[in-house]
Amino acid sequence: MALGFLSLNLSHLGWWASGLILVLGFIKFLPLLLRRQKLVKAMDSFPGPPTHWLYGHAHEVQQMKSLDKVMSWANQFPCAHPLWFGQFVGFLNIYDPDYAKAVYSRGDPKAPDVYDFFLPWIGKGLLVLEGPKWYQHRKLLTPGFHYDVLKPYVGVFTSSAHAMLDKWEEKARKNKSFDIFSDVGHMALDTLMKCTFGKGDSGLGHRDRSYYLAISDLTMLMQQRIEQFLYHNDFIYRLSRHGRQFLKACQVAHEHTDQVIKERKAALQNEKEREKIQNRRHLDFLDILLGVQDENGTKLSDADLRAEVDTFMFEGHDTTTSGISWFLYCMAQNPEHQHRCREEVREILGDRDSFQWDDLGKMTYLTMCIKESFRLFPPVPQVYRQLSKPVNFVDGRSLPAGSLISLHIYALHRNSAVWPDPEVFDPLRFSPENVAGRHPFAFMPFSAGPRNCIGQQFAMNEMKVVTALCLLRFEFSVDHSRLPIKIPQLVLRSMNGIHLHLKSLNSGSQL
Ligand code: HEM
Repeated sequence: MALGFLSLNLSHLGWWASGLILVLGFIKFLPLLLRRQKLVKAMDSFPGPPTHWLYGHAHEVQQMKSLDKVMSWANQFPCAHPLWFGQFVGFLNIYDPDYAKAVYSRGDPKAPDVYDFFLPWIGKGLLVLEGPKWYQHRKLLTPGFHYDVLKPYVGVFTSSAHAMLDKWEEKARKNKSFDIFSDVGHMALDTLMKCTFGKGDSGLGHRDRSYYLAISDLTMLMQQRIEQFLYHNDFIYRLSRHGRQFLKACQVAHEHTDQVIKERKAALQNEKEREKIQNRRHLDFLDILLGVQDENGTKLSDADLRAEVDTFMFEGHDTTTSGISWFLYCMAQNPEHQHRCREEVREILGDRDSFQWDDLGKMTYLTMCIKESFRLFPPVPQVYRQLSKPVNFVDGRSLPAGSLISLHIYALHRNSAVWPDPEVFDPLRFSPENVAGRHPFAFMPFSAGPRNCIGQQFAMNEMKVVTALCLLRFEFSVDHSRLPIKIPQLVLRSMNGIHLHLKSLNSGSQL
């Protein structure tokens, strides 16, 4: 009898528990449903590719040739189309200059549906911050990219590039193609750490290399999380294998940045070092962060400091790695332009053996080729916003506040309405006459408007010095048996590396 009573009560309890779970589930689900309805309604004047009832477009954008897929959609639906990751996160994917101008000339916030995924990794640094705090940090850090700070970096770019090129001399002797991407990545991390984080002359150590690997994992995992709607939920993600992998990689990245901060703080305890820094006319990025105090004398909190170091450490090397690697691939594909760039830098250099600041402004053909490679292979292929107020587009369509926008830089740069024969590598697109007649938002490798890239001048200088040195030392050609497969992972990478044949032009001398 007692047993029967107990089982009756247990079965009641089971019913109650299931009921409670259903009600809680519904309460959690309702806002998602309402949000979906709002987003669908907002985008009803934008036709787009058919959506899967569960995945939206997520399956298609996860496939190997996802960028080709997006291009085929962009050619089918002028200006913009809805892009759904699952059923609850729907962006208006835009790739038209007027559309880009309507959104990116204003300072709308970053879309939290994407940028919140960065938080466990880079915290609330400049990339993710919003409002007055973003403004305060941007104002604070801008002097770290002043022209006088950037000038001496030409020497740093040169020495890091030479270390990489010496390694390539050895690899080239084997007469086999090799993947250049990770060597470029190590070189870019080395220069960044020397320029902005005060690292000494030694090359990358074990910790730096682990950091480099952790960043490739993090960018791959972040992209996967954006595209897989089940992973949008923090709870599910943290329980998943990929979520655990993500947190582990964050830990490796944080150990690296903590060490960089610790070493610099220790150096500041040394009076001589402190004097050296105080005597500098312009402080570097980490000096600024460590020395900064607001009007009330409060220093940047440890969390803010770490977030900025993590942000710049990532943004400052992964983007330039992509830019330099794809540029060399473009040169390998286009020997006539490669030859012309090489002739230009040889002429600028004359009988000197290193570049000076003034030389950078004279590299006009090389700069046009760099821009053309940014057009075809933008290092940051996609960026996202959430509208803080309604926007009206030039064709009369509009979106309400709260809508999500994805600016597809890759598709914008291949939009045939702006770029005739978009697949053709033609640096003359960036001659002054041709630029003058073009929409100012047709070319946005560094984004545009108030949230543009703070490091663009640094990046362009590094691109010029490093690529000029590469072209002086080697002739590059494509390995047709191992063509790169483009894949967006926050930055543009290649799934199978970028394999090039290198022929040394060097008969002994360093340049
Ligand atoms: C070829 C190299 C580079 C490219 C193509 C590039 C591109 C971009 C793009 C497209 C954005 C906008 C991101 C968004 O809206 O989500 C951005 C922002 C940013 N970039 Fe770069 N970047 C490059 C190099 C660098 C370097 C060298 C640094 C630092 C040393 C840097 C630091 C940043 C930071 C901190 C932001 C956020 C700025 C803000 O929101 O105020 N970038 N970059």
